[in-house]
Amino acid sequence: MKKLSVALIGYGKMGKIIESICVERGHSIHCIIDKADDFITQSQLFSTVDVAIDFSLPEAVTDNIHNCFNMHIPVVVGTTGWHNQLPEITTLCIEKNGSLFYASNYSLGMNIVFRLNQQLAKMLKSTNYKISIKESHHIQKLDAPSGTAITLANDVIKNHEGFKKWEIGTDSKDGILPIEVQRIGEVNGVHEINAVSEEDTISLHHEAFSRKGFALGAVLAAEFLYDKKGVFSMDDLLKV
Ligand SMILES: NC(=O)c1ccc[n+]([C@@H]2O[C@H](COP(=O)([O-])OP(=O)(O)OC[C@H]3O[C@@H](n4cnc5c(N)ncnc54)[C@H](O)[C@@H]3O)[C@@H](O)[C@H]2O)c1
Repeated sequence: MKKLSVALIGYGKMGKIIESICVERGHSIHCIIDKADDFITQSQLFSTVDVAIDFSLPEAVTDNIHNCFNMHIPVVVGTTGWHNQLPEITTLCIEKNGSLFYASNYSLGMNIVFRLNQQLAKMLKSTNYKISIKESHHIQKLDAPSGTAITLANDVIKNHEGFKKWEIGTDSKDGILPIEVQRIGEVNGVHEINAVSEEDTISLHHEAFSRKGFALGAVLAAEFLYDKKGVFSMDDLLKV
């Protein structure tokens, strides 16, 4: 495996764990960008890295992605709260011959749950089960619902004709998939998909014990992306 020279964009809780996993795997952190101005003060260092990993803020991430495309640096994005802009960013990536990897959740376990959820939604489409989603995170999380809950909801909508859109809430209304959002303490991320009939309940439950699983997934994505062009997701990394 090639030892990569990495730029960290966002040096908060996730950035620091990603740094330690990069070092464990033999990569070096060449440049740390933790505010917009750092792109200017560190531009020389930044221009020489193999790959950048962005875990910053929803309001900063699209500018950061633009900077990476302009400097021809492949970028792995973990920041959430911007995926409604994915179509424009994908077009820009192709125009600029850039390299982008994005995922609302880099944990292997959660990506297994994504696939089980798609399957469950298909199997429930001609039944009377009422489906709902619930997510809980620590109180510092800025976006709600989580990017992961939105991915789960969109996958249900794609695979189950009974739903047209999702809404934050707990009520099951016609055509609307409810997402219940909780912000409590130090919770790293709990996601549940529940399907309830008059006879029983089916549940998929995922709980991240720490942030390490997300960080490892992002570093694996950087190892995958650094020599490729185009837009990639966990489906490409996990080859499903
Ligand atoms: N995709 C996943 O698997 C996954 C997992 C965990 C967290 N996240 C997301 O990652 C993001 C970061 O999470 P966190 O817990 O590390 O947050 P955090 O608040 O601890 O860290 C964010 C960091 O970004 C820095 N920052 C601010 N403006 C910046 C800019 N313009 N350029 C670069 N950095 C800037 C801040 O100084 C801060 O250090 C959030 O959007 C979170 O939802 C994603």
